[in-house]
Amino acid sequence: MLQIAFAKAVLPKSGVLVVPVPEGGELAGLAAALDKALDGLLGRAMEAASFTGKKGQSANLLAPGAGLKRVLLVGTGKVDAFTPKLAEELGGTVQAALTKEAEALVLADKLTPQLAAHVALGARLRSYRFDKYRTTEKEDEKPKLASFKILSAAAAKAEAAYVPLAAVAEGVELTRNLVTEPANELYPEEFANRTEALKKLGLKVEIFDKKDLEKLGFGSLLCVGWGSARDSRMVVMQWFGASGAAQPDGKKTKKLKDPVAFIGKGVTFDTGGISIKPAAGMEDMKWDMAGAGAVTGLMAALAGRKAKVDAVGLIGLVENMPSGTAIRPGDVVKSYSGQTIEVLNTDAEGRLVLADVLYYAQERFAPKYMVNLATLTGAIIVGLGHEYAGLFSNNDELADKLIAAGQATGEGLWRMPLAPLGESYDKNLNSDIADVKNIGGGRAGGSITAAQFLQRFVNGKPWAHLDIAGMAWAGKDTAVTPKGATAFGVRLLDQFVKDNFEK
Ligand code: BES
Ligand code: MN
Ligand code: ZN
Repeated sequence: MLQIAFAKAVLPKSGVLVVPVPEGGELAGLAAALDKALDGLLGRAMEAASFTGKKGQSANLLAPGAGLKRVLLVGTGKVDAFTPKLAEELGGTVQAALTKEAEALVLADKLTPQLAAHVALGARLRSYRFDKYRTTEKEDEKPKLASFKILSAAAAKAEAAYVPLAAVAEGVELTRNLVTEPANELYPEEFANRTEALKKLGLKVEIFDKKDLEKLGFGSLLCVGWGSARDSRMVVMQWFGASGAAQPDGKKTKKLKDPVAFIGKGVTFDTGGISIKPAAGMEDMKWDMAGAGAVTGLMAALAGRKAKVDAVGLIGLVENMPSGTAIRPGDVVKSYSGQTIEVLNTDAEGRLVLADVLYYAQERFAPKYMVNLATLTGAIIVGLGHEYAGLFSNNDELADKLIAAGQATGEGLWRMPLAPLGESYDKNLNSDIADVKNIGGGRAGGSITAAQFLQRFVNGKPWAHLDIAGMAWAGKDTAVTPKGATAFGVRLLDQFVKDNFEK
């Protein structure tokens, strides 16, 4: 794992040095001193490379003198516009450019401690690697970069600013690990077991097994797992960050006060069931639990940084398989809410899982807001691609807060339509023989239909649904996210909590 450290800002006499340069190319502080020590080399190199400090620009100088092995100039863009998000992107880009080096030193004498900490966070997020199943990789094929040191004028302050960010990074890494695991390793019971580790952070963790869920009447969630050899689970994770002491023993039954609730779809593998999916690309459905993965990582992040909020995470864990015991198209089940559901397509299973967990969340916890995350529809990828997750909400205030958190973190949300019960889109879900059917309206507006279905189970409470099907897994690297599991939602919702519940 990449070691992050903070040290006093002095010019190093050896090693690999990263020099952030603001737009305009003016060298200040230690960068100016270095330029002087190198007889104006930095200025000449910037000129020769047409490097002006614009965001995203970089210039690489090998063996520049003064004992240094390498100097990497990186543009920060306009000084006033250098936000935490851009600082993270800079850190991530630098990390990726220097993986063949053992150590990177970053001149941050002109950055605020907060921004310096975000540079470190970006580097850490980008350095993530899932290599537990690699056994034959040669040493020289592995990334070497082991140490990322920020040279700050206020190193102690920067280090303190990094502490909560490191907790968020840990949450992100937990999510990425869960999402990347293959489905033979991570099935509902195993996922639930892994959440037990969060108790040591002070979270109260309750695991509901199949029997518990039967007793509760979770007919909608459970029907998805009928065909699987792996039993379903629900996990409830409570964090008492505002209303009192954490509950390390998990035994006290203290009640959360006006919590915010996060609900995740955790389909550990989605074959489609009897309405089976085509073979091509079905392997992607190991990450159909990314919503639950994000909720788990988020709860770890909130507890890890001791966020002053009461929050609860609820995840529904199931495996959707075809078999002699699987649910058939046309079957009718009774949901926890009491509403009966005609299951016309067994591949529209995420909504069946969420229906029961959402209704349970609002009934048991009376949350101020409920936010669910789910890789719910292929249609959201058709609509929004891999740039934004779809946001559906019955509450404008909540929607605006989420969009703002998305802009701050770079985990973007695009609001989609949602109709009141009984109107337009919603009507498509009326069943001929039950209260509601799980598909309707054909392929058209498929993501909206899915959201409308969920809305029938939120009992009018303030709620938002994030359809993250296009965002949970990345086909290519971006600044702070190596390709693969993104942990989309963890940083977004951590920011949402920070901005709205901790002030
Ligand atoms: N897990 C899928 C959605 C999905 C598709 C996520 C591709 C990520 C990538 C979901 O359970 C599903 O199968 N949805 C169906 C709904 C349809 C049957 C109404 C879909 O999108 O095709
Ligand atoms: Mn499905
Ligand atoms: Zn699914």
